[in-house]
Amino acid sequence: MNVYLPLSAALAIQSTNLTSVSHQVTLAERHRRNGHGNGILWFTGLSGAGKSTLAMALEQHLFHRGYQVFVLDGDNVRQGLCADLGFSPTDRTENIRRVGEAAALFARAGALVITAFISPYRTDRERVRQIAPNLFHEVYINADLAACENRDPKGLYKKARAGQIPDFTGISAPYERPLAAELVVPTARQSVEASLAVLLDYVGTTFALTAN
Ligand code: ADX
Repeated sequence: MNVYLPLSAALAIQSTNLTSVSHQVTLAERHRRNGHGNGILWFTGLSGAGKSTLAMALEQHLFHRGYQVFVLDGDNVRQGLCADLGFSPTDRTENIRRVGEAAALFARAGALVITAFISPYRTDRERVRQIAPNLFHEVYINADLAACENRDPKGLYKKARAGQIPDFTGISAPYERPLAAELVVPTARQSVEASLAVLLDYVGTTFALTAN
């Protein structure tokens, strides 16, 4: 059960002569140690929908409740792991592939991972689900373009409308909304606190803390 599964689904594996190595620590042991289940809460939505705000608030709340939890956020990861990638469709696909692999590793180590990436393409998100089928929970942070553009917290929509940012999601690049997300959080219709409450409720029932 603890065989290391090759995670790559988007790339052909270039190395030859590989032999999978088994972990001697079981997932059940990790759960017992941490006191909760593991997994990936995959936030998707337009820029300005509230992904980062909610991810960081959720991380803080869960941390203080004793969860092993960590956020992978697009604006951060793109300054390191994915610093070589831009916003073309192929670069976005590679961004999501790498983040999916990283999130799956964190989750297999026993953590609850929250990812905050636009991840605009359905097939890219489904590929992450395929590499981590029992771990992946798609969370649609749902605010429509008008609401996001109205908020424009980073001033990016204004720049995109002025033609200063090419391939901007929602303006000059597509966003494919989830068709069957595990959870939908309608951030244009409710407060941050109300959205956070929905997320905490979902985590409480899905990754419950267990008595050690
Ligand atoms: S994704 O499409 O590949 O998933 P990701 O979530 O990593 O995108 O990065 C999105 C962030 O990059 C946005 O929140 C915004 O701050 C910034 N950004 C810069 N250029 C663009 C662009 N062309 N489209 C969307 N976001 C952009």
